[in-house]
This record gives sequence, structure tokens and C-alpha cells, in this order.
Amino acid sequence: MSDFENIFDASYERVLGKEINAQSFFDAFYVNFVSKSDAIAHTFANTDMAKQKRLLEKSFYKLLTFYATNNATDYLEKIAIQHNYQHLNILPEWYDIWLEALIETVAQYDDTFSDDVELAWRLVLASGITYMKFKYNHVAS
Ligand code: HEM
Repeated sequence: MSDFENIFDASYERVLGKEINAQSFFDAFYVNFVSKSDAIAHTFANTDMAKQKRLLEKSFYKLLTFYATNNATDYLEKIAIQHNYQHLNILPEWYDIWLEALIETVAQYDDTFSDDVELAWRLVLASGITYMKFKYNHVAS
């Protein structure tokens, strides 16, 4: 395991173990994310957010697997197709906003947040996000 993977894992454990004003890490992430853009908030207008948080938490591990193996799982492929222009139509640039909202939330929830922690999150998520963006308009695999 690389140093960055270890740094990420330790940080992930800290943020999941913390609540701020009864809000979990994923609660706060969605608050931060939808506050960044009306268009993004609009896409979640009819979404059951409690369910959405559980699904994101689960799919998060699939993004991480991508970092570790350089291979998308069938599950990640399914999510990417669901997000593409033919379905949810999640624009590639929204993933950058997603990542910035996530880093902001890590800064709030990780008491030992640092440059190394931030870089670890960015590195570990980069391949998965690149994959999701790429699949936006590359529909055949
Ligand atoms: C790498 C980043 C992302 C991951 C891992 C992810 C993961 C997921 C998962 C697992 C679901 C549920 C699929 C299901 O119903 O089975 C979902 C739904 C959804 N995602 Fe994402 N997502 C990501 C980025 C985004 C971004 C950037 C947006 C932008 C607004 C977005 C908007 C949505 C919407 C609108 C839904 C449908 C919600 C509903 O059912 O009402 N996602 N996502």
C-alpha cells in the first residue's frame, strides 16, 4: 500500500467517525455540494437524500478500488452509465465541483487535515473521477 493510500485510509476513518452538529460526513458533503450550484441542487430536487448518502458511501469504495487496481468494477461501470448524457446527464465539470465540495468537507471533518491529507484524497479519487467523466459521452465500452 502506498503512503498516500495509508494517509487516505486513516483520514477516511477519522471523517466517518465524526459528527458535527449531529451531521455525518456524508450529510455535510451533500450540504456543501448542493450549495455550490443551483443546477446541481436542482438535479437532486426529487431525490431521497438519506438513501442517496448510503449509495454514495457504498460507491465510494468502488472509486477507491479503481485507484488500487486501475480497473473499473461492473458496479462502477453501471454508475458511470447511469450518470452519462443519455441518462442523468451529469456534466463532466460537475465532478470537479463534487471533488472540491468533498475536500472542503474533509477539511471540516478531519481534525488533522493537512496538505498531505488533501493530496491523498485527490490522488486516490482521481482515476475514478476521470473514468466517470470519460464515460459521459463514450457510451460503448
Ligand atoms: C464520482 C462521483 C460520483 C459517484 C461515485 C456517484 C454515485 C452515485 C450513485 C451510487 C447513485 C445511485 C445510483 C442508483 O440509484 O443505483 C447516484 C445517483 C445520482 N447522482 Fe451521483 N455520483 C457521483 C457524482 C455525481 C455528480 C457530480 C452529480 C451531479 C449533480 C451526481 C448526481 C446524481 C443524481 C442526480 C443521482 C440520482 C438521484 C436520484 O435517484 O434521484 N452524481 N450517484
